[in-house]
Amino acid sequence: MIKSVEPVTIVIVGASGDLTRRKLLPALHSLMCEELLHPHTRIVGLARSALSLEAFHQQLYEGVANYARLKPGMCERWPDFARRISYMAGAYDAGDTYQLLAAHLAQRDRQMGAVGNTLFYLAIPPHLYPTVIAQIGAAGLNRRPQGWTRIVIEKPFGHDLASARELNAQAHEVFNEQQLYRIDHYLAKETVQNILMFRFANMVFEPLWNRRYVDYVQITAAETIGVEHRSAYYEEAGALRDMIQNHLMQLFTFTAMEPPVAFSADAVRDEKVKVLRAVRPIAPDQVARAAVRGQYAGGVIAGSPVIGYRQEVHVSPSSQVETYAAVKLYVDNWRWEGVPFYLRTGKRLPKDVTEVAIQFKRPPFLLFRKADMPLESVQPNLLVLRIQPDEGISLRVQSKAPGEEVGLEPVELDFSWGSTLDALPFSAYETLLQDVMDGDATLFNRDDEAEEAWRIVEPILTAWRADRHDIDTYVSGTWGPEATVVMMATDG
Ligand code: NDP
Ligand code: BG6
Repeated sequence: MIKSVEPVTIVIVGASGDLTRRKLLPALHSLMCEELLHPHTRIVGLARSALSLEAFHQQLYEGVANYARLKPGMCERWPDFARRISYMAGAYDAGDTYQLLAAHLAQRDRQMGAVGNTLFYLAIPPHLYPTVIAQIGAAGLNRRPQGWTRIVIEKPFGHDLASARELNAQAHEVFNEQQLYRIDHYLAKETVQNILMFRFANMVFEPLWNRRYVDYVQITAAETIGVEHRSAYYEEAGALRDMIQNHLMQLFTFTAMEPPVAFSADAVRDEKVKVLRAVRPIAPDQVARAAVRGQYAGGVIAGSPVIGYRQEVHVSPSSQVETYAAVKLYVDNWRWEGVPFYLRTGKRLPKDVTEVAIQFKRPPFLLFRKADMPLESVQPNLLVLRIQPDEGISLRVQSKAPGEEVGLEPVELDFSWGSTLDALPFSAYETLLQDVMDGDATLFNRDDEAEEAWRIVEPILTAWRADRHDIDTYVSGTWGPEATVVMMATDG
């Protein structure tokens, strides 16, 4: 999609932090290198730390040099980029900070001869969102005299259904829904968007995309990394909140939703919300059958020993936080009745793989097998949408086994993104920042969508909170706790 390029003042709140350094500024740098930032676009960093402009620039330069798609060297424009970046120190809860910011923005408008498009980006810990939103409103910065004002809110959006509702209410007191951009960076991955293209731009699969032909769907996001430097955050989150409520739910909605009437923000989000609403509520006494959790113990990853979760810094030695979660969902609608969707994610698993696997039913009758060959031994068609790494799509089909005898052998039809489409994809944050500046909310969560996703996981959160048993562990480098295998086996 061709984006319009307007001048914007981007105010990053929490600019001294990890997200700004590793994701936001590298993305903005690459956009500038692609001529996708207006020459008058400016970046204002705001945080409590008393950093000199020089120290702030140095911190950002290291981030750009290490993490940008287009690094200095590939694009020699750092001085031009740095010239656009200023820094302000101030407390997040002090009115003065925002008065100073208002004066700064007003001065900029005067220099620019108006326009005044303003984008706030909340790159701060989630407990600060309400404070900062309220302060922006109190300073009258939520609606500026000219141009548009938008605000990006990072994940996690709330930590349960009640807090997500409260945060929506607090945000709506200051901003209207059209100004709010709730981020989920999975939506910006080309392979995630491609689920919609694959489904709705081809004739072949959509007729089969339903309970008559699909046996079950497995959505996986496996990571080899542990919690790394984010253990303080992770102790409050866990795998269900960190990955399933948001990223895996996005993969699920794209896979299960009905075709939207247009590829526009509200049409797409209406269909996503509809399918989330159709997810059968998990009754409290069914949680044990519908959800599994586990925590990594020490083990070996890629030949190197790694410590267990409870030994990580800032993690309680008796932590009950799950680093692995698997959830079974049913969608009570015409298309999907009776088809289980298994969503699973974990850290310190044997390999990095994110994929949506659609397992089709077996043919009802098989001409080509030998008399002693049970129907169950024939592998059904399996369609795998590989989100990352090794992006692509494969389809397992049955073929004639070589030789004179009549027999079957499964083979794969394989499309590989990298070798077929020769392109260096934009990073997720480049796509999302560009979309916000362009006012396109298709790849952002709406208020009702965020709440529905919490509604689905809420019974699991409640049951796990009340569970007094010590959490199951799994050895790092294995596929999670034994209970997942039991759940799948019980379902046949
Ligand atoms: P950081 O922990 O790096 O915090 C950002 C800044 O907020 C810090 O530099 C600090 O600035 C300020 N801050 C941190 N803790 C506190 C506190 N307790 N009270 C007041 N101010 C505090 O966060 P990230 O940059 O990692 O993340 C920002 C947001 O983005 C979070 O909501 C996170 O969940 C989300 N996110 C982050 C990702 C990542 O890869 N980092 C990925 C996806 C989402 P100062 O002290 O200078 O004010
Ligand atoms: C983040 C989670 O939102 O997504 C992390 O907080 C996780 O725990 C990350 O590692 C995964 O993102 P990606 O793009 O690497 O799959």
